[in-house]
Formats: sequence, structure tokens, C-alpha cells
Amino acid sequence: MRMTRFLACVAAAVFTVGLASTRTAPQLAARTTEDWLKTLESPARVAGLKIDETVARLKLKPGDVVADIGAGSGLFEGPLAKAVTSGGKIYAVDIDQGLLDNIDKRTKEFQITNVQTVLGKFADPNLPTRDVDLAFIDDVLHHIEDRAGYLKNLTGYLKPSGRVAVIEFIPSKGGHQNQPELQITKEQGTAWMAAAGMKPVEEFDLFDTKWFVIYERR
Ligand SMILES: C[S@@+](CC[C@H](N)C(=O)[O-])C[C@H]1O[C@@H](n2cnc3c(N)ncnc32)[C@H](O)[C@@H]1O
Repeated sequence: MRMTRFLACVAAAVFTVGLASTRTAPQLAARTTEDWLKTLESPARVAGLKIDETVARLKLKPGDVVADIGAGSGLFEGPLAKAVTSGGKIYAVDIDQGLLDNIDKRTKEFQITNVQTVLGKFADPNLPTRDVDLAFIDDVLHHIEDRAGYLKNLTGYLKPSGRVAVIEFIPSKGGHQNQPELQITKEQGTAWMAAAGMKPVEEFDLFDTKWFVIYERR
């Protein structure tokens, strides 16, 4: 009897381990908050982001509402907040509450009042309003499992004139070189956006290793 109970426990454990190992992680290449902060803020990465040049190309206007999807440590929040002025709003979305706390701390420290952090869901940005002028998604899409589904959900939060700016590594040139599951071509991104009813309207060659495209409704 004791042996039967033991075998049943072993079988249950094997089943549980099996389930855990086949369960797909919602965030691909996940890291801890501390690890993200260290990685995202390395001086070489920050310089390579060309933050001011990128924000200038978004052509934001005073009063605009921006959703920064996968805001990370919040490197873009200051320049985005400045571009939309105090009459505009930045939703800094991430699925990591620790990173959002870091953004709240920083915006408070720098007295930036037009940034609101939002705890997103894995498959949906979970924004409180559907009045977004521009969704900005830099170095994030490859972490999302269902990219097409996420982009479709994201476009549901845009104003009719709303735009989506995507920046991702060019598979042959940068980032995650040996991890094809973490690579996204511009053509793939554009096909998913087309399925969400969006077409490319601007493309920038600001980076040697990344593609940068802005989409709007067709
Ligand atoms: C490589 S970092 C980029 C951070 C920031 N955009 C930047 O360029 O500095 C990727 C970020 O995406 C976030 N992320 C991953 N999956 C997400 C999802 N489904 N929704 C929102 N954020 C997500 C991660 O927590 C992380 O902060």
C-alpha cells in the first residue's frame, strides 16, 4: 500500500515536471528586474539606442498620447514626455512591476508628471483608454510569443489616426544571432501589421543593425 502511494507520488511529480517543461513561457528570454536594469542601462546600449534621434523621428505633437510598450527601465520616458509636453500623456507599459516601480521613482525624482505606468498583460497592453496617437515598441516584439495577436490587440487602443512605431534587430545584423526564435524580419512585422489593418508609412535607416518602421491604418 505504502509502495503504491509512493509510485503515485512519483507519477504525479513526473507529470508536473513534464507539464512545466512543455509550458511555453509567455515572455521569451525573460530576465529578473535587476538583470533587466543592468542590461538595459549599459552605456554601450544606451548610446546605441539614439534616443533623441529616434524620438525626433516619431514627430510627436504637444498633447499627443503615447503608449511605450515594454518600457523597460524607462530610458525613453523623459524625451517622450518632453515631446508631448505637459498637455500630453505617456503610458509606460511593461509586464514587470519592478521595472514600472523604477520608472515611477525616476519620473518623481525628475518631476515629470505626464507619465503613467501600466502593468500590461502578456498578450495585451491593458491600457486604461483607447485614445493612443502613437504606440512605440522598441526592442520588445521578439519577447512576445504571439506577435501577430499582440499587435492586433495593440491597434485596438489607437485613435483612427493612430500610428505604431516598431524597432527590431535585423536578424542577419544584430541581437540574438544564434536564437532564430528571437528574430523578427521587417517583412514579418509588416505582415502582422497588415493583418491588424495597418500599412507602413515611414521607414528610417537610423540604425545599421535595426529596422525602424512607422505604420498607420490602411
Ligand atoms: C529589451 S527590453 C526593451 C526596453 C525598452 N523598450 C528599451 O528599448 O530600453 C524588453 C522589455 O519588454 C518587456 N516585455 C516583454 N514582454 C512584454 C509584453 N508582453 N508586454 C509588455 N512588455 C513586455 C520586458 O519586461 C522588458 O522590459
